[in-house]
Amino acid sequence: MCGIVGYVGTKPAQSILVNGLARLEYRGYDSAGIAIIDGSKIGVTKTAGRVADLISSIAADQGSYTGSVGIGHTRWATHGAPVTKNAHPHSDCSQNVAVVHNGIIENYMQLRDELIAAGHTFTSDTDTEVVAHLVEQMGDEPLEIIVRNIMEKAEGALAIGVVRASDPDLIVAARRGSPLVIGFGDGESFLASDIPAILEHTRRIAIVGDDNVVSLTPGGVSITDLAGNPVEPVVRDIEWDLESAERGGYDDFMLKEIYEQPKALTDTLAGRIDDHYRIHLPELDLTPREARAIDKVFVVACGTSYHAGLMAKYAIERWTRLPVEIDIASEFRYRDPVLDDRTMVIGMSQSGETADTLAAIEYAQAQGAYVVATTNVVDSSMARVADSVLYTRAGPEIGVASTKTFVCQLVLMQILALYLAQIRGALDGATVEVMAKSIRALPDQVEKLLERADDIMEQARKYTDVKDVFFLGRGVSFPIALEGALKLKEIAYVRAEGYPAGEMKHGPIALIEKGVLVVGVATKSHLHAKTLSNMEEMKARAATLFMVLTEGDTEGQRLADDVAWVPPAPELIAPVTAVIPLQLFAYAISKAKGLDVDKPRNLAKTVTVE
Ligand code: AGP
Repeated sequence: MCGIVGYVGTKPAQSILVNGLARLEYRGYDSAGIAIIDGSKIGVTKTAGRVADLISSIAADQGSYTGSVGIGHTRWATHGAPVTKNAHPHSDCSQNVAVVHNGIIENYMQLRDELIAAGHTFTSDTDTEVVAHLVEQMGDEPLEIIVRNIMEKAEGALAIGVVRASDPDLIVAARRGSPLVIGFGDGESFLASDIPAILEHTRRIAIVGDDNVVSLTPGGVSITDLAGNPVEPVVRDIEWDLESAERGGYDDFMLKEIYEQPKALTDTLAGRIDDHYRIHLPELDLTPREARAIDKVFVVACGTSYHAGLMAKYAIERWTRLPVEIDIASEFRYRDPVLDDRTMVIGMSQSGETADTLAAIEYAQAQGAYVVATTNVVDSSMARVADSVLYTRAGPEIGVASTKTFVCQLVLMQILALYLAQIRGALDGATVEVMAKSIRALPDQVEKLLERADDIMEQARKYTDVKDVFFLGRGVSFPIALEGALKLKEIAYVRAEGYPAGEMKHGPIALIEKGVLVVGVATKSHLHAKTLSNMEEMKARAATLFMVLTEGDTEGQRLADDVAWVPPAPELIAPVTAVIPLQLFAYAISKAKGLDVDKPRNLAKTVTVE
């Protein structure tokens, strides 16, 4: 997730671009840059760091470029470390083209090899740079036709903005998947990844459609589809104030991030399941022989990441038959675990900076284990320490309560488990295919589930005054129960306990009485009937039951006071959708209590102390 801004008009572009980037910094802040057409050339200023660093670089360039056409970018690294050479805009060999890009070009390696063979020289490690060289390679064709061709060639979700020195009054942009909006002014036109970047200049905005190509000039905007047919923009007047526009019109970042989950999942899956439903994880820097030599796996993590790790234990053990131990990082690092050079230790962390998890993987590495980090932040401390890094690609998460990064961690662990099973020959191709198909269906399933978010939140608000909540699940639903309880604790300040449903009879059932709410995660699985029996036990002691059930489960519905329905999925895939009603449940209660969901008391997004 990166931020793009563009301006074409008669005013100096520089301050418009820089101010726009400051409004887009929430989308990424690894590096920033601008390109401005200045006479017959393009001036580029870019730097690692934040927009503030870009402003210093521009000042050091003596104010640099004075033109009225330009593009800017703030980066959240996916391909290539967050250093200046990988900052956008990227240029071609002759510096006549500049490109900004958001998203992932999945086939960039192949395009890059072809361009190198044709004599182009690359100066960055990004996937983006291929676009600049493709523009150069396609010669003097109109820029709009070139961009259409590039959109045909490039695979994946992407939004791009392109300027060329020989077209001094033109920006051409296009999108597929990644967001892009255009703004209409008098004698000027604007481009951005998100509305806040241009809202101070115009309130007349249109969303660019998928596979549409946009030409922006001072005189206006024209849009075509990939076949060159004209597309009429749907222009609307935006009434939001700037602050709510930064949250995309949502009340809070947490809710925005809940709604971003389909896109976050799509990006995390990009390139990892091919059209034959084979799993690819080239970032796992292990030969098949080395992967087959692993005889034990540990997962270490904290908080929500620990719950994703617990799901990973179920998936890896079931699919690979490797034994997996799961540890809270702050326990692992001091308990003298038995590790050797045949042990894989997976450190899971959204931030990649959590002190306990970082120390745990450093400890594991010192014992000779092979360390894999999974994180959402490129080049974070854990990414630098680990032997291999698997990134979730959820985009920056600002709400303290993790939501979109959690579902991405779940799918990434499912992918890793299937990949290990595939190379170890532990699963046949047909089973891998069934699982891979189900994983691929998740972004759409989550999208559809979120269409019912208001209903789920309405149901949840009935429990605003609840004091005691148990979240129960068995098997792979147990980590989801733990996660549901953590969400409710951290943002709604309700005492909530996540427990294995079958364990209640060994003590905690003594706490069940009228007024206690039990949230049962009882999606279809080989333990479904047993979970329902445990729910019966709660009901018999006068608990109220809110249940997460698979669509069509009339047996479960019969027991429940309230039901949140989720779509059918294989048992080990189902947690990804099952957690979403629980995120909405905690969110709705927190809001009903008038609490600050994005910044709950006593908590920090990243915990870099022991
Ligand atoms: C998640 O909602 C929490 N805020 C918290 O438990 C978090 O998951 C934990 O601190 C670990 O963070 P990490 O994933 O960045 O390592």
